[in-house]
Amino acid sequence: MSSAKRRMRPSPVSIAGLGAYLPEKVVTNDDLAATLDTSDEWIRSRTGIAQRHYAAPEQATSDLAIAAGKAALADAGLATDDVAAILVATTTPDHAVPGTAPLVAAALGTEVAALDVNAACSGFLYGLRMGTALAIAEDAPVLLIGAETMTRIVDPTDRNVAILFGDGAGAVVLVPDAAGSMGPFVLGADGRDPSMLWTETGGTRTPVSSAVLEARTHYMTMRGGDVYRNAVTRMTAAGLEVLEAAGRTSADVDLFIGHQANLRILDAVGQRLGIDAAHTHVTVDQHGNTSGASVPLALADARDRGRLAPGDTVLLTAFGAGLTWGACLLTWDPTGAGSAGSGGGRVDRRARPAVSEVQQ
Ligand code: UT7
Repeated sequence: MSSAKRRMRPSPVSIAGLGAYLPEKVVTNDDLAATLDTSDEWIRSRTGIAQRHYAAPEQATSDLAIAAGKAALADAGLATDDVAAILVATTTPDHAVPGTAPLVAAALGTEVAALDVNAACSGFLYGLRMGTALAIAEDAPVLLIGAETMTRIVDPTDRNVAILFGDGAGAVVLVPDAAGSMGPFVLGADGRDPSMLWTETGGTRTPVSSAVLEARTHYMTMRGGDVYRNAVTRMTAAGLEVLEAAGRTSADVDLFIGHQANLRILDAVGQRLGIDAAHTHVTVDQHGNTSGASVPLALADARDRGRLAPGDTVLLTAFGAGLTWGACLLTWDPTGAGSAGSGGGRVDRRARPAVSEVQQ
């Protein structure tokens, strides 16, 4: 099965502001090992994850999204009224109906178009494509938020998935910018085998019932090995495709930010793309897998750590349930006018710790 080849040109759009929100509660591997048959050593060596954040019981996805969205608008120096639309990339909405984005828009005090994008862990990449197109069509800024409360759909007693996921939100403000370069994008989907990573029940195929609750099939399940192999293959192929479409090579990539699911996956994709670990940004050790929030959270973290300089070429890749995948090239702060974040514009391409160091 192949996807149609389309002309892929970058769009004159740039990121004018970044925001991030991580819930206060930090859960370490040892915390999980207190109730699950697992260990800090197993989790670190198989995933690179050391800790993750958990939303408080009273927090839902919109609460995380609102905090990140406000931070991104403030960072861009824009008011809510300046924004033409709000997109929320999430696979863990507050409710099945309505979407989460209208709730976020209401909290931000606006009645502009607001809709959810559900492409699981690839949701932010899909949202970036849609937000870029909207920013140009409306000739106005668009607020794109990736927000997830994964811990609400993960069975806390299932060690296969409970150790992987965390909660959080990241946001970007996309602005039309003649100097900007957003793209090319590659997005794809293959829905032939959804059970590789899914919540089997609780939707319209099999609604919640007492039998469902007893079988616990309303929680997310995953065939980890299959997901792992597909994640590496799809993110590598999408990354190579955008580089080729842009007439660039991996040597042109100043910073690579892949979906933060597993350090071994990031390493494998980086190696296959020919990108040195020093040019790869890693947050999975601190955040776990936050699905649609992982890429904007990593982008905000990279900026705050001074790893992004004006004019940098950034490669984003993502992969998730569906299956869905995507990749995008973008130019960071093309005119040097953007805010430097707490890193103060200091660029540091230090190699991140290797898995062996993460294991301590
Ligand atoms: O956003 C996309 C979402 N998902 C992912 O990105 C996940 C992709 N997959 C992965 O990251 C990896 O497949 C995992 C980290 C989930 C698993 O790593 P693995 O090296 O593929 O391990 P495995 O599934 O082959 O399991 C090896 C063993 C099994 O025991 P047996 O059958 O060999 O006796 C598992 O039962 O490890 C066992 N195991 C665990 N042991 C301790 C599975 N989970 C755990 C655990 N602690 N948490």
